[in-house]
Amino acid sequence: MPARPAIYLGLMSGTSVDGIDAVAIDLTDEAIAHDGRILGHCSLAIPADIKSRVIALSSQATDSLSENLDLDYLLGHLFADCALDLIQQLELKASDVQAIACHGQTIRHRPPVAGSNLAQSSYSQQIGDANIIAERTGIQVVADFRRRDIAAGGQAAPLLPTFHAHWFGEFEQRKVAVNIGGMANISVLESDRCTAGFDSGPGNALMDYWCEKNTGAAIDINGEWAAQGKVNLKLLDRLLSAPYFDLSAPKSTGRELFNSGWLEQKISGDVSPEDVQATLLELTAQSICAAIKAYAPVCGEIILCGGGVYNGTLFQRIEALANTQVTSCAAYGLKPEQVEAAAFAWLAKKRIENEVGNSPAVTGAEGYRVLGAIYSA
Ligand SMILES: Nc1ncnc2c1ncn2[C@@H]1O[C@H](COP(=O)(O)OP(=O)(O)O)[C@@H](O)[C@H]1O
Ligand SMILES: [Mg+2]
Repeated sequence: MPARPAIYLGLMSGTSVDGIDAVAIDLTDEAIAHDGRILGHCSLAIPADIKSRVIALSSQATDSLSENLDLDYLLGHLFADCALDLIQQLELKASDVQAIACHGQTIRHRPPVAGSNLAQSSYSQQIGDANIIAERTGIQVVADFRRRDIAAGGQAAPLLPTFHAHWFGEFEQRKVAVNIGGMANISVLESDRCTAGFDSGPGNALMDYWCEKNTGAAIDINGEWAAQGKVNLKLLDRLLSAPYFDLSAPKSTGRELFNSGWLEQKISGDVSPEDVQATLLELTAQSICAAIKAYAPVCGEIILCGGGVYNGTLFQRIEALANTQVTSCAAYGLKPEQVEAAAFAWLAKKRIENEVGNSPAVTGAEGYRVLGAIYSA
C-alpha cells in the first residue's frame, strides 16, 4: 500500500511585511524528484494599517506590550485565514495535513554579539498566535522556530540554508542560494551540504520604504523607478560604511539596524529621490555579491529566491556584478515567493519527527538542535 501523503503547510511573512505566503507541500518521500511536490500556494496581503504597526513595533518606535499582544492576536487570525484559504482551495480535510508551520512575523531580532557576556540579553521574537491557527484549522501547528538556536548561543538566522541544501543540493560544483526578502541572506552549498550562510544586509526593505515615501507605491515594480536614477557614489559609500558589512559570519540582521531612521540619517539634501532609489538597489546588489565573493569565490551558479527576484533591475545588476550564471529558483520547481514557506514546512516535518533543524556552521550555535514548539490540534 502506498504511504499516506505527508502534506505540510508552511506560512511565512518576512521582514518586508508585504503579505503572508502559504504553501502546501508533499514531503512523503524526500528522495523523489522535486517536480509536483508543491500542491498549492496562496498569498494574503497584510492590510496597510497592520503593516505600519508591525514596522513601528519592529523598529522600536513603538515599545508597548499591549501593541505586541494586539498584533499577536490580529496576525494569528490572518495566518489562520491564509491557511484556511489554501485548505479550501485544495479541498483538503484537516486530517489530510500533518502539520502547519507558522514562522510568524518577526518583531525583534537581537542575536548574541561575539564576546559579550550573559548580561547582554539576546532574543528573536516572532508573533502571530499559533494557538489561534490550531484552534481554527483543527491541525497541529509548529511555531517558535528560532529561539532554541538563540538559547544555544546561535544567531537563529538564517534558517533557510539547510532547506536550500536539501532542495538545490547534490551537485558537483559549489552553488550559492540567495534569498532576497526584506533583508537578504546567502547559503553556500557544497554538494548536499550548506557550509556557510548569513544575512548579507538589506534586501528590499529600504527600497520599499523609500518608494512608498516618495511615490506612494508600496513596491518599485520591476525596479523601474530605480532604473531612472543614477547611483550616487558618495551616498553608496556612506551606506556601505556600516560596520555590519565588515563583520564575519555567523551574523544576522533586521530592521533593528537597516531601518528608515538609519537611511534618513545617511542621506544629505542634494540627492534626488530616484538617485537614492538607484543607490539603494546598488547597495543590495553590491552587498550580496561581496558576501558571495568573500565566502564562495569560486561558484558555479547563483540561485536567487524571494520577492526580489521580481525586481528585474536588481536581477540584472546582480548578473552584471557576479562572474557566474544567475538563475531564478523557479528553474528548480519553486517559485521565488514559495521558498521560505516551503522551507518552514520542511522544518516543521523535522520538528514532528524530532530531528534537528539548525546548522551550527551557519548560526554559530553550540550544536544541532530540534527547532520549534508544537501546538496540538
Ligand atoms: N514585481 C516586483 N517588482 C519589484 N519588487 C518586487 C516585486 N514583487 C515583489 N517584490 C519585492 O519583494 C518583496 C517581498 O519579498 P518577500 O520574499 O515576500 O520578502 P519577505 O520575506 O521579507 O516578506 C516586496 O516587498 C518587494 O520589495
Ligand atoms: Mg513576504
